[in-house]
Amino acid sequence: MTTRPSSDTVAVRPDPSPCRPQDLGKFEVTARDGAARLGLLYTNHGVLATPMLLPVVNPNIRTIEPREMWERYHVNGLITNSYVTWKHEKLRDPALKDGIHALLDYPGVIVTDSGTFQSYVYGDVEVGVEEIVEFQRNIGVDIGTMLDVFGRPDMTREELENAVVETADRATPSLTVAGEELLLNGPIQGGLHEDLRAHAGDLMGSMEGEHRGFAIHPIGGIVPLMEKQRYRELFQILLAARATIPPNRPIHLFGCGHPLLFPLAIALGTDLFDSAAYALFARDDRLLTPEGTVKLGELTEWPCHSSALFHHTPKEVREMEKEERSVLLSHHNLEITQVELARCREAIRNGTIWRLAEQRSHASPQLREAFEWVIEQLVDPDEGPVGQSALRIISSTNPVRGTAEHFGNDIDYRPHLLHLNAMLATRWRAPGSWWDDSVSSPERVVILTGAAPPWRNSALGTAVEALREEPRSVILISTPIGLIPFTLEDVSPWCHIDGSDDLWRMVISENEIDAWLDDLSLSNLPLDIHECLPDPDEIAGGDKRQIIRDWIDRCTVVDKLSLFCGINPKLSCDLTSNMSARRSRTDRMVNVNFDDQHCLSPRLPDGALSLTLNGARALHELNPNPPRKFQSEMEYIEGDHLGIPRVLLHDDAIPFVGQGRNVIHGFVLGADSHLIVGQPCLVVDSEGNLVAHGIANATADDMSFFTKGIAVKVRDGAMKQ
Ligand code: GUN
Repeated sequence: MTTRPSSDTVAVRPDPSPCRPQDLGKFEVTARDGAARLGLLYTNHGVLATPMLLPVVNPNIRTIEPREMWERYHVNGLITNSYVTWKHEKLRDPALKDGIHALLDYPGVIVTDSGTFQSYVYGDVEVGVEEIVEFQRNIGVDIGTMLDVFGRPDMTREELENAVVETADRATPSLTVAGEELLLNGPIQGGLHEDLRAHAGDLMGSMEGEHRGFAIHPIGGIVPLMEKQRYRELFQILLAARATIPPNRPIHLFGCGHPLLFPLAIALGTDLFDSAAYALFARDDRLLTPEGTVKLGELTEWPCHSSALFHHTPKEVREMEKEERSVLLSHHNLEITQVELARCREAIRNGTIWRLAEQRSHASPQLREAFEWVIEQLVDPDEGPVGQSALRIISSTNPVRGTAEHFGNDIDYRPHLLHLNAMLATRWRAPGSWWDDSVSSPERVVILTGAAPPWRNSALGTAVEALREEPRSVILISTPIGLIPFTLEDVSPWCHIDGSDDLWRMVISENEIDAWLDDLSLSNLPLDIHECLPDPDEIAGGDKRQIIRDWIDRCTVVDKLSLFCGINPKLSCDLTSNMSARRSRTDRMVNVNFDDQHCLSPRLPDGALSLTLNGARALHELNPNPPRKFQSEMEYIEGDHLGIPRVLLHDDAIPFVGQGRNVIHGFVLGADSHLIVGQPCLVVDSEGNLVAHGIANATADDMSFFTKGIAVKVRDGAMKQ
């Protein structure tokens, strides 16, 4: 007997439509939070919205019917085994006759594996490299898998090298047999060796078939690690492989499907998972939860709910027949898996995937160890592929957030804060001229303490007084996560930390002060610490008050242009020499004019900058040459103030983008390597002329690979009539 979790009827879901032929196999990223991305993978049986899990369906034992996965759980793709299908006549013949979709009664995306895992479990398989790809093609699979060589973690280096090389040797014949319609997985092997994983990523990522290369890169050989909860090594392998896998290919963790691992795996760039855990664990009376596995035998109440279990108590379920119980628990496990993936996708949308990974890391000691190891790689990246991936995670993360930053022990190591602090350390400069028109180096540093944001209310008076006293003062605010220039007082997350009131009374130690001043190149100056008084704002500064405030406003614009747009502060000083600003009722600068032209506004949610077309033109004049076209390898130009980053547009797109349409991947010929996701950029033609300005939606590296999706969200075209 099959237990359906409840009797409510489910509306029939229509079959998916095939993608446009020119989109087959393309991957598009629609939103990102650092390395985590929301993607769309185009196939002949619909679009896979990633990150997602392909439930494993054993064609001989269908614990949950594929049709029900489609109808009830909206599972848009599943994975089954082509080798098992090929081996059993009763499956092979109908698959060849009617196709795999009819055999499984499933209209969505069908992915198949090739028998490699069986060779790992049983020793060998008797199918040929080309034969198994041909079979997958003939039964109408959407995404097949070549017969890779499973690299076990306990193999010698030589054996693992052979597994990588042999897999790569089989790639071209496999892509040839796959033909035009069958997309292929190109697995990455290499055991625990970072360099072998990176080498495999390079080899497999650069394979080209007649129609296309591999559509997806699964990371293989990791099941033995997950079985033993060796999560640190799992994530080490992921980071090493990711260093060389082309960014426009989805990454799949082969055999990974425990919800506990989803947030960190996704935060580090995983797009696809597959697993039979939902059914295997159920057969063993175990429940999946986002925080680990729970045995049915121990429960009085459910630790987490699903529609499958809502109407039952643990005792009732224990008393069911084995088969009925196992089906019911499979439903629960699949539901929980889907719910956790939805939670991760939502976290990517609202910029909190790292926070979720951090929370989940506390659910298991092994995962916590892995998380702490990842943090170490971010804070102190090495020279190898793992360090390269770590740096890329930081630099691809939008440094500012519109949402509150939760205070916690790991706060200093979050990728967006590491990015923001690195930008502060490299791009911020102390003023060279002062409100009293003197032009010289600073005389002292003043740290304002004991005030909570908004600092323009709680600390402005004290700042103005300090500047009146000594015009050549660099004013810093003490925040729970470090010292920041007063001019950046409305930049979130610094000004938007969620924690107890005590945070703002926290005393920063002398060592910490020294380290921060060193980062800001202010170590050699005399230091004063001023406790912010109950605001003397109204009278602070006396008759100099307005002059000092106008000077602070100007410094704010110079500092933000430096931080978010890479503009040299000396050039910004010239730009702002005739600056005026309009303030809101809450006393924030809203419109900033240069020579009476509205050029920019601080963004209200995060304090970064929003340019107008006038502002874009002004910054463009400082940097009028076009960026270089993409080369075979991304060129990283060194320098703190390289000017506002530019994207070089293909001629065909100029009429559209010039009118204000978004820049689409595939029309980008080059981009400055210091482009920052979420921050302003210019779009220029091959002569360097301004076509538009907007917000970068991808890194320069991504732009050199992707052929689908939005590269720049354009704010305004420069060629509008
Ligand atoms: N399933 C789990 N691991 C692997 C692997 O390394 N290769 C293939 N093809 N399938 C897998």
